[in-house]
Amino acid sequence: MAKRDFLTLLDKSPEELGEIVARACELKTLQRDHKLHQSLSGRTLAMIFQQNSTRTRMGFEAGMTQLGGHAVFLSPGDTQLGRGEPISDTARVLSEMVDAVVIRTPSHEDLITFAEAASVPVINAMTSRFHPCQLLADMQTFAELRGPIAGRAVAFVGDGYNMCHSYINAARQWGFQLKIACPEGHEPDPQILASCNSAVLVESAREAVDQADLVVTDVWSSMGHEEEQAGRKARFAPYQVNEALLDQASRDVVFLHCLPAHRGEEVSETLLDDPRSAVWQEAGNRLHTQKALLEFLLT
Ligand code: CP
Repeated sequence: MAKRDFLTLLDKSPEELGEIVARACELKTLQRDHKLHQSLSGRTLAMIFQQNSTRTRMGFEAGMTQLGGHAVFLSPGDTQLGRGEPISDTARVLSEMVDAVVIRTPSHEDLITFAEAASVPVINAMTSRFHPCQLLADMQTFAELRGPIAGRAVAFVGDGYNMCHSYINAARQWGFQLKIACPEGHEPDPQILASCNSAVLVESAREAVDQADLVVTDVWSSMGHEEEQAGRKARFAPYQVNEALLDQASRDVVFLHCLPAHRGEEVSETLLDDPRSAVWQEAGNRLHTQKALLEFLLT
């Protein structure tokens, strides 16, 4: 059987993605009820993080423990990657030792190079283009709160970067309507946008959220763009998601943010604790969806 990677949401069929999210819900119940579910007993996951992480790393590390396996965290500073060993050589070496590899690297091209050289499943833990693991948790969270997302209206407000690209792919795979509002010069990649006939760019945040069932944003300066933060503040200010903007959405709108958030920038100081926000549930679901993904790829 060919090895199964998870580099973007498009690597899996809509049915497979649905299966992963459904299993995440089962695993969440098992975990809540303290029932052992060690389907990955004796298996090892290597986790290469070339950028900081709290949620993704903990989700995989705690997830492997709960599934009966083991995760090994590898930072470039501690491995030969930091001293110039080619990423493809690292992929071949790790493939001799572990059952799967999670990798967070800014370069999507490096991720592809790694996956092509590896003979075990490779999971994208975020690149500058896509963050597919986050979308599994977002889709689980919406489904738990409001049921199927197919046909619903979703608004993405802010930087047309990796989270926006992932929402475009999710609109294709889960069949929802996506309106995107970004400052000029920060639109998503035109090719990615053109690949989805249910995603459109709109003129303003207000237009995007109008009657939306789900509103999503992300930081104005993602990792790697920190030096642009001051310059971006003025350009992004009209795209802040706050209580008044959410009032324009559907009455039972859900608000999600992948976190970490910058209060007072892309969200108002108080929005994360608004009753319409489900960001803590969303963060917790990173654990359950990543466990379901590991099971899907490894068993
Ligand atoms: N949302 C997310 O990926 O969080 P981390 O950067 O903490 O992993």
